[in-house]
Amino acid sequence: MNNRGNFGSRIGLVLATAGSAVGLGNIWRFPFTTGQNGGAAFIIIYIICILMLGLPGMISEFIIGRHAATNAVRAYGVISGKRVWRVVGVMGILCSTIILGFYSVVAGWCLQYLYASVAGQIKGDSSYVARYFTEFSSDIAMPVVWAMVFIIITHFVIVKGVRKGIEKASKLMMPTLFVLLLIIVAASCMLPNAISGIKFLFYPDFSKLSSNVMLEALGQAFFSLSLGTACLCTYSSYFSKRTNLVNAALQIALIDTLIAVLAGLMIFPAAFSVGVKPDAGPSLIFITLPNVFQQAFASMPLVGYVISILFYALLALAALTSTISMHEIGTAFFHEELKRPRRHAAWIVTITAIMIAIVSSLSCGAYPQLTVFGMSMMDFFDFLTANILLPAGALLTCIYVGWVVPRSTVMTEFTNRHTVCIRLFPAFLFMVRFVCPICITLVFLHQFGIV
Ligand code: PHE
Repeated sequence: MNNRGNFGSRIGLVLATAGSAVGLGNIWRFPFTTGQNGGAAFIIIYIICILMLGLPGMISEFIIGRHAATNAVRAYGVISGKRVWRVVGVMGILCSTIILGFYSVVAGWCLQYLYASVAGQIKGDSSYVARYFTEFSSDIAMPVVWAMVFIIITHFVIVKGVRKGIEKASKLMMPTLFVLLLIIVAASCMLPNAISGIKFLFYPDFSKLSSNVMLEALGQAFFSLSLGTACLCTYSSYFSKRTNLVNAALQIALIDTLIAVLAGLMIFPAAFSVGVKPDAGPSLIFITLPNVFQQAFASMPLVGYVISILFYALLALAALTSTISMHEIGTAFFHEELKRPRRHAAWIVTITAIMIAIVSSLSCGAYPQLTVFGMSMMDFFDFLTANILLPAGALLTCIYVGWVVPRSTVMTEFTNRHTVCIRLFPAFLFMVRFVCPICITLVFLHQFGIV
């Protein structure tokens, strides 16, 4: 495939891949998971997971993608010559399209909240704010419309291609996102008693740790790095042969973790400042936070108004850089395998994702009878991807790179033909051969009560 797109610059590549990593996972999932699991102690375990399992996993996907320079399904077959491994690519496309569907529902809620913040609608006591969320999210039409808007915006970025669509959008959106985040962090940390929120985030209380925390931290780390969905493999197929894969993985993991911690610094000081506990779970940013913003900025309503708008704009932007990457995995596959124009390939993914979004959204309230194994469709899709397909994808990728792909191929890609990071190679190989597969398997089995 000679005329494939590629990233035009190193900064573009890092920002686009970091854009995939930075998303609702950082700004929505990380704070509420940290809140539920005791704060700083959870963050320490999380960072260990990123370093020990996330980084080797990311580099493995990069090796496969860059070497094969093709879509994920073909890449997993081509690099070892064993076609059965294509199934990991298929799982990746399945997983990312399902995530795209239900993730867009939450992204759509952010668009509604952005609109409602501008219109000044989320004002009132705490029961009003809770009712606002329940009524809106269980409506038949509006959440579906917003999710569709979100998927269609993603679609149009994707259709423009790798350099003019994905890279250009990421170069614009990532710095904007960072600035928005810093403004809100500053406002939140200047509130009275903000220090107790900062303490919660940085002062570890190990008594809060349970075996479940390990599992939560691992799941969160993989989800946040977009690992195990063939997303990194697809993006790295657009990397240049000169890109230092180890450096790129380090930079992306660093940006991703920094943004997650900053998201904590944005939410916890504000919550503690008004005496609200940050352990509400998924509704943290839709029920707890609007209340927190109102109370915290009660004496400066204009600041509260602006902060609330900036916050939901930030969420929508972060979600968009991620949905773009989820969409690209399937689009690249259909484009290259069906030999159809990108436009047509993108529609296949868009329409599938819209259908998943509709089912997910309706299961959240309008049709609560839409359940599988006793879970709402939304929870089921989340469970299926984050707890099963994602760890399975990451596990198989490590086994594949560690044991199946010829060692010389892995080494050539890791070291850029023996020019960089040569000393690190044995450590990397040890991690992907032994440490990652064993740890991921243990955690995976643990969730089903097997070990
Ligand atoms: N990493 C993204 C986030 O943190 C989610 C994502 C998962 C993106 C899988 C692509 C693939 O929100």
